[in-house]
Amino acid sequence: STRTTTPGPETETLSGGFPAIRMRRNRKASWSRRLVAEHQLSPADLIWPMFVVDGAALRTPVASMPGVERLSVDLIVEAAKHAVDLGIPAIALFPFTDPKKRSEDAAEAFNPDNLVCRATRAIKAANLDLGVILDVALDPYTSHGHDGLLVGDEIVNDETNAALVKQSLVQAEAGADVLAPSDMMDGRIGVIRSALEGKGFKNTQIMSYAAKYASAFYGPFRDAVGSSGLLKGDKRTYQMNPANTEEALREVAIDLDEGADMVMVKPGMPYLDVVRRVSETFGVPTFAYQVSGEYAMLAAAFEKGWLDPDKTMLESLLAFKRAGASGVLTYFAPKAARLLAE
Ligand code: PBG
Repeated sequence: STRTTTPGPETETLSGGFPAIRMRRNRKASWSRRLVAEHQLSPADLIWPMFVVDGAALRTPVASMPGVERLSVDLIVEAAKHAVDLGIPAIALFPFTDPKKRSEDAAEAFNPDNLVCRATRAIKAANLDLGVILDVALDPYTSHGHDGLLVGDEIVNDETNAALVKQSLVQAEAGADVLAPSDMMDGRIGVIRSALEGKGFKNTQIMSYAAKYASAFYGPFRDAVGSSGLLKGDKRTYQMNPANTEEALREVAIDLDEGADMVMVKPGMPYLDVVRRVSETFGVPTFAYQVSGEYAMLAAAFEKGWLDPDKTMLESLLAFKRAGASGVLTYFAPKAARLLAE
């Protein structure tokens, strides 16, 4: 009973001279387009990444990310409330650490009063129905801008893991709901999970940056957290080669084995094939990060008037859902949520 959909002489001109299949029927009216839509974007799909800076009532612009500002802790709490009003389920916090507090050993990462810990406690004190996600990686705290500890010219894996465990514990203690290791060390999910269990943090979720590529699209983020000028060399000995997909599946399998609750693919738009394969292969909550460089290139085209901001933004986010993502980390989160509410 199924008819061929291969275009050919017989489908183009059936007996009466009409197309056998008119795909456009379902697209004719708005109600019909809505009815047959396969995927939907909602505010519940969005995670809003925010940058925290020291001070009070302070907002500082990020030059390479028009429309994005670093916020002091008091304003982060206001933004968190705004996220709840918009129906956004979770936010992710990243610190702009005072250069004086950056060091070889990243000690500020284990300071229970560091910026992200203070911000998390302040948000949690407001008792919101909102998830707080904190990155686990040393780059906002190291004097060299790497995610791990540097010995000679090597980012040392196991010593870094010990540091990441300390960082995870102060963050869980501060009330973080989700820890998101973004460092790409081997074995970190396992040691973090067992440390959390050992200290009674049984319900702290782990969203692992499982398939994180060594990407040029992170440039504006490094401006936002103030690590770009510091970074010595690149991150290719720990982040993945953009040439690989099979390797992404291995990374995800390992992180799930070690106790991750959710996984992430990063960057987003240029890696939708990876999102698709990960979500299909594992069937676990799979997130994509539409990273700073993706935001910057769209925002620049919007500023120039070359792309329609609202339509392009929503289309870019819907594409993640189509690829199989459970949700998207995006700097467009508040704007997109507002548009979706209209
Ligand atoms: C830190 C981290 C980075 C991002 C998230 N966590 C930068 C990096 O790995 O260099 C990038 C996010 C973005 O570009 O928006 N490990």
